[in-house]
Amino acid sequence: MLAVEAHGLTKTFRSVFSRRSTTALLDVSLAVPRGMVFGLLGPNGAGKTTLLSILATLLLPDRGRASVLGHDVIREAARIRQKVNMASGNASFLWSLRPGEILTFYGRLYGLYGMRLRRRVDDLIGLCELADHLKTPYNELSTGIKQRLNLAKSLLNDPELLFLDEPTLGLDPDISIRLRAQIAALRRERGTTILLTTHYMREAEELCDEIAFIKGGQILARGTADQLKRQIRIGEVISLRLEGGAWEELGALPGILGFVSKDDRVECTVDSAVERLPTILRWLHERNVAVRHVDVREPELEEVFVELAK
Ligand SMILES: Nc1ncnc2c1ncn2[C@@H]1O[C@H](COP(=O)(O)OP(=O)(O)OP(=O)(O)O)[C@@H](O)[C@H]1O
Ligand SMILES: [Mg+2]
Repeated sequence: MLAVEAHGLTKTFRSVFSRRSTTALLDVSLAVPRGMVFGLLGPNGAGKTTLLSILATLLLPDRGRASVLGHDVIREAARIRQKVNMASGNASFLWSLRPGEILTFYGRLYGLYGMRLRRRVDDLIGLCELADHLKTPYNELSTGIKQRLNLAKSLLNDPELLFLDEPTLGLDPDISIRLRAQIAALRRERGTTILLTTHYMREAEELCDEIAFIKGGQILARGTADQLKRQIRIGEVISLRLEGGAWEELGALPGILGFVSKDDRVECTVDSAVERLPTILRWLHERNVAVRHVDVREPELEEVFVELAK
């Protein structure tokens, strides 16, 4: 069964003060199966937050329809809100409240009280490693702790589907790694479906089963990280360290899509490394160029993204 099913979603923001209007989403269709970690990847202003907000029933689309966990986002918004939750990278809570108070407050909004509420708050304080910060008011917490508190808040109703908008925004690499591990564990241990947005290619590649590239309010491509790399056909990268002779004409060999040479280092982007490497090595050997080092790597998702964003 699908966790998210959207057809032709369109959203235009119109300014009240001027005639300016921005089409944030244009005819977006999307299907996400249950239990998947799905990533929306795209540059600033691509429409990622708008799409999450519509699916989380925080914004109404102008056109199109969507259902979340089998419920229509317009007609059955209340049902959806019971079963989903959202954590945004730039969330903000009342500055003077402490983490336990914040979680208790939001827990009550979800209808928890008494022992159940206390136990849920304690569990989440443990899960999100907040125990050392219970006495600190919100405005004195570091960004990383605020993010963990935000994640804890989003788990209060044990959501079946979690929307995470830039979950690791502004975090140090080591804190991001821990947060990503927590996100991966949520799916593994609770089977939570997760729809996240990110600017970070590594994050998408590491966490997501599938990724959609979104730009200018449209989904340009969708698939696993590997599929996307193949779909764009930006090939593989062969790095060489060479010595002696001239190799500038190497770039003209068949199958070489890109060629960069600096000092003794050469990077060739090829359609297929297995196919082209023997020819390249033979060509160099024939010209008495010594090969000191060879390395073949897959393209980074970032490179795919640059191709798509053109
Ligand atoms: N409330 C609003 N009023 C007017 N325009 C808006 C509003 N919200 C978003 N937009 C515009 O819609 C477009 C998409 O915005 P959105 O926030 O969905 O992008 P995003 O992909 O989340 O970007 P970012 O990576 O910066 O978070 C942008 O051009 C933005 O300026
Ligand atoms: Mg955004």
